[in-house]
Amino acid sequence: MKLLLGITGSIAAYKSADLARLLTREGHEVRCILTEAGGRFIPALTLASLTGQTVHGANPELNEWRPSPVVEHIDLARWADLVAVVPATADIMGKTAHGLADDLLSTVLLATRATILWAPAMNTGMWDNAAVQANVACLRERGHRFVEPDEGLLACGESGQGKLAEIEDIAEAIRALGNPKLPTLVGRQVLVTGGPTREDLDPVRTLTNRSTGSMGVHLARALRDAGAHPHLVLGGDLAAPWGVPTIRVHSAEHMLTACRELWPRMAGCFAAAAVADQRPEHRAEQKVKKQEGAESLLLVRTPDILATLSKEKKPGQWLVGFAAESERHTEHAMVKLERKGLDAVLVNDITGGKGFGFRPNTLVPVVAEGAQPELGPLPKDDLARAVVAWWAGRL
Ligand SMILES: Cc1cc2nc3c(=O)[nH]c(=O)nc-3n(C[C@H](O)[C@H](O)[C@H](O)COP(=O)(O)O)c2cc1C
Repeated sequence: MKLLLGITGSIAAYKSADLARLLTREGHEVRCILTEAGGRFIPALTLASLTGQTVHGANPELNEWRPSPVVEHIDLARWADLVAVVPATADIMGKTAHGLADDLLSTVLLATRATILWAPAMNTGMWDNAAVQANVACLRERGHRFVEPDEGLLACGESGQGKLAEIEDIAEAIRALGNPKLPTLVGRQVLVTGGPTREDLDPVRTLTNRSTGSMGVHLARALRDAGAHPHLVLGGDLAAPWGVPTIRVHSAEHMLTACRELWPRMAGCFAAAAVADQRPEHRAEQKVKKQEGAESLLLVRTPDILATLSKEKKPGQWLVGFAAESERHTEHAMVKLERKGLDAVLVNDITGGKGFGFRPNTLVPVVAEGAQPELGPLPKDDLARAVVAWWAGRL
């Protein structure tokens, strides 16, 4: 992605150095524009060193009016896949909302046809000011995107909304808006399930499994970045990804209800959740007291979410399942594919504790024609992107 990062005159400007470093390390091309006030809070030298790119802007050492063989503001405006202003002052948003262009950044913001993302930071009184809110509403109406400021203790000593959002959340929004899109997925609504389910024995004890939900979360992110509209149905405790509507669920029954509600509107589904196959026959209302000697627990089957979605599948809808296997991987996946009416099964080898948590992982896609070349080994975020790209290529 080619990211143009505007940095304006807020105390939070020093945080934009971390953002520039993070995104540069991920392989994105990051060019910075400093306003004159922004340059008082963070040196251009820091940004140039972290990004390996010339810093553009208005402070005297950068001299935005220097004679140049290209028209700098138009060149930068055309170059960018995304323009992000982090931190964004009340001033720069007000200027852009009113069509003013009196320095390089404000001129680029008017000239660019790329998506514009704002991460405002300011004192609570300024953020709550009716004029600022009117400017934000005006920019939103024109299709500009925002990462809202957080609530917290501000540099001025006041508490309230106005603190620059976390850098990782801003980076997420930048990836979501600026990463290249996959044409077969753009605008498609996709259901993603992830995480473990929990089947309660009583108010404190539960039957669950070792899934964390990271594959589901990374798949939802990868789909979002590819231009799809993922809807995540998530068990476990991981944070929901930025910009992805997420329904948190507890039991298999609960997950099924959420999935069935969404399914008629979806183009397809990636079912990465590790759904419990059994639940205790009874859930005790009060904590069960221990007894002397051996105890037994009667388990009954939980609903089969994939089989249910498959039965309710309309023409054109697709279903991709995941399988964790410890032996005869392809053979078991082919049985699952046919029995559950799936379009593909991604097989995870779980021998020796592989496949769970945050370690690099490998998946073998199995479709009606048989096993396909494996994806990985890759960290789960890259693996999720590989899965999405592989599937988008088959659509
Ligand atoms: C110490 C200091 C901190 C400031 N912090 C902020 C801020 O967080 N948000 C904001 O909107 N303005 C802040 N301002 C005011 C802006 O710097 C001022 O409006 C400036 O003209 C903005 O210019 P720019 O938008 O071109 O960068 C601050 C000013 C000073 C002196």
